[in-house]
Amino acid sequence: MGGQSDKWVLMVTAQTPTNIAVIKYWGKRDETLILPINDSISVTLDPDHLCTTTTVAVSPSFDQDRMWLNGKEISLLGGRFQSCLRELRSRASDFEDEKRGIKIKKADWEKLNLHIASYNNFPTAAGLASSAAGLACFVFALAKLMNLKEDHSQLSAIARQGSGSACRSLYGGFVKWIMGKEENGSDSIAVQLADEKHWDDLVIVIAVVSARQKETSSTSGMQDSCKTSMLIQHRAKEVVPKRVIQMEEAIEKRDFPSFARLACADSNQFHAVCLDTSPPIFYMNDTSHKIISCVEKWNRSEESPQVAYTFDAGPNAVMIARNRKTAALLLQRLLFHFPPHSDTDLNSYVIGDKSILQDVGVRDMKDVENLPAPPEIKDNIPAQKSKGEVSYFICTRPGRGPTVLSDSQALLNPETGLPK
Ligand code: DP6
Repeated sequence: MGGQSDKWVLMVTAQTPTNIAVIKYWGKRDETLILPINDSISVTLDPDHLCTTTTVAVSPSFDQDRMWLNGKEISLLGGRFQSCLRELRSRASDFEDEKRGIKIKKADWEKLNLHIASYNNFPTAAGLASSAAGLACFVFALAKLMNLKEDHSQLSAIARQGSGSACRSLYGGFVKWIMGKEENGSDSIAVQLADEKHWDDLVIVIAVVSARQKETSSTSGMQDSCKTSMLIQHRAKEVVPKRVIQMEEAIEKRDFPSFARLACADSNQFHAVCLDTSPPIFYMNDTSHKIISCVEKWNRSEESPQVAYTFDAGPNAVMIARNRKTAALLLQRLLFHFPPHSDTDLNSYVIGDKSILQDVGVRDMKDVENLPAPPEIKDNIPAQKSKGEVSYFICTRPGRGPTVLSDSQALLNPETGLPK
């Protein structure tokens, strides 16, 4: 260890996307190893709009492992961080940078302390799978720093022990988490079904729904479902295995109607399992239900589905449109039904890929107010407007997997190893 001096700080900065499940993971067969009771499939979201950036650093001058999230120091003592750190340290390899006089032997990684700084480019509190991107980035960045020889699937098995859904963020595009059979979890890994270029017509619109109360965490929610719901067993044994095969085929063939039917049905069944849990868990709220009705009504009025919706453990809607044209028609409907409070600026109401607003044909709030009612709304039923129920919309698309960033984008100071 060391070199001419013990002053060196070695760093890696990485960026990792979030993902949205279109076949949901809900229920564990092993709480510590985080092994699921069914396979799941997700779409990786473009990290340009939603991602975690993490800098990890090692130095002989650090006297303990420390971590900062969005600038605030947090504890690394939790069991899940510790599981990931243990797995990573045990697989670390020798590292040498002759120019800088840095030499780290495999065994040194057990003794060297780490500094980790992580930052989400979206509000953590919005409930947008920040733990998936966060844990995936934690594992990916440390694996690079510690010179692990493992491939992304093997890294996914480490990220899985931080948070189940995190294992799917190790790849871009379309990803399957195979539940596996082994008791030690070695075959419970993520694999890429197709990369983000395979189906690049898709456009994703997220409605961040204003939530009043704190939701039940996924971890405890799925524990309760496993203990009390009969539906969850039927879902895991009979429904999901068939759906996973159909979903893989829909993705392979870019068959949007099948993709949309499967995604909507699976989201609805996941929420039915939540309702079947005792006490029942309500993740969706009135606004979520109104969004489902709006999409269902429109899909029904067309020959085949134009948009898929899916909801995780919270009220936010993730909608996947078959192309840009349908995404614009979707946003037109959403802005009509869910206008912002009058003092909101359109520029902060639709974020991400704002260029979609040109396709919608709205430049400012005046244009939003003048949007016509969608044609599928019957004249005898007055069109409903729900002002202020959506906090904002994010427009994005399927995106790439984790990447290593340059040191100029590091969140830690290269001399001190402390947050910048
Ligand atoms: C509804 O991965 O957050 O988003 O493994 O306990 O950390 P833990 O749970 P988590 O659960 C995600 C549940 C979900 C569905 C999904 O992402 O597949």
